Amino acid sequence: MRVLNFGSLNVDYVYKVDHILVRGETLQSGSRRIFSGGKGLNQSVALARAGLEVYHAGSTGQGGEFLTGVLEDAGVHTDFVRVLKDTPCGHTVIQNDKDGDNCILLFGGANQCITDEQVDEVLSHFGSEDTLVLQNEINANVKIMEKAHEKGLTIVLNPSPFDEKIAALPLSYVDIFFMNEIEAAQMAGIRSDDPDALLDSLEAKFPEARLVLTLGGAGSVCSFRGERTRQQIYPVHAVDTTAAGDTFTGFFLSGILRGLDTKEALDLASRASAVAVTRPGAAPSIPTLKEVEAYRF
Ligand code: RIB
Repeated sequence: MRVLNFGSLNVDYVYKVDHILVRGETLQSGSRRIFSGGKGLNQSVALARAGLEVYHAGSTGQGGEFLTGVLEDAGVHTDFVRVLKDTPCGHTVIQNDKDGDNCILLFGGANQCITDEQVDEVLSHFGSEDTLVLQNEINANVKIMEKAHEKGLTIVLNPSPFDEKIAALPLSYVDIFFMNEIEAAQMAGIRSDDPDALLDSLEAKFPEARLVLTLGGAGSVCSFRGERTRQQIYPVHAVDTTAAGDTFTGFFLSGILRGLDTKEALDLASRASAVAVTRPGAAPSIPTLKEVEAYRF
């Protein structure tokens, strides 16, 4: 059972601020730290630290030379990561406030330079036993999904960050969706923050898919085959919520692929993301399965 994650690799420039900037404001930051990140890279690290065999595919560029090493240290295979020497690496500017909340400005860089040839080459190594994981931070998701569907891979999509490109994807091919409540409302095309109303609408659109919604402090809920399973959060002192959702995705998926039931997988993912928010940064904050199991809440 292998997981192919075709996704972004970013350098995160994280600025500690008293509060998130408002329009027209200039604010002195307390510190700047540089972390490995990108929803793609973070999810690969989470999947590998949760114990799966993970292959990351994507492109880094100038300034992101260390990112391949981060994946390798987590046990992720990097044969399908290309280094574009003349292109800036994907990166972000992240404000991290005193409550641990953040806001993220994203620059695509090398993540937006995936070629058709690259997609064909990578997918030629995978088949129907394998699982594909995608987010919305690279440019070739339509082609990747078409190819993966043709080859019978299980397809997992985290439609984040949500934008107009999502509507162009062959969404009926998706087996598992991971969304927060904002993305769920955008996917459903309705104005609501009621998780059950969101799920009613999403179930009608994607009747075959497993739908996983993260709800911040209100926990998470999964809808699958007519059943809704709910999970509370594990309360901790949050220092940085960056990559909490990516950690949740990696650990939930690892649980399902290892045969846990939905409740067990939600509980594992909830514990893992709680541990992640007690630590600064994106990828460096993601715990191993052992650390999650040993953590006392
Ligand atoms: O989900 C968190 C990630 O979103 C950050 O690491 C940042 O790179 C952005 O992609």
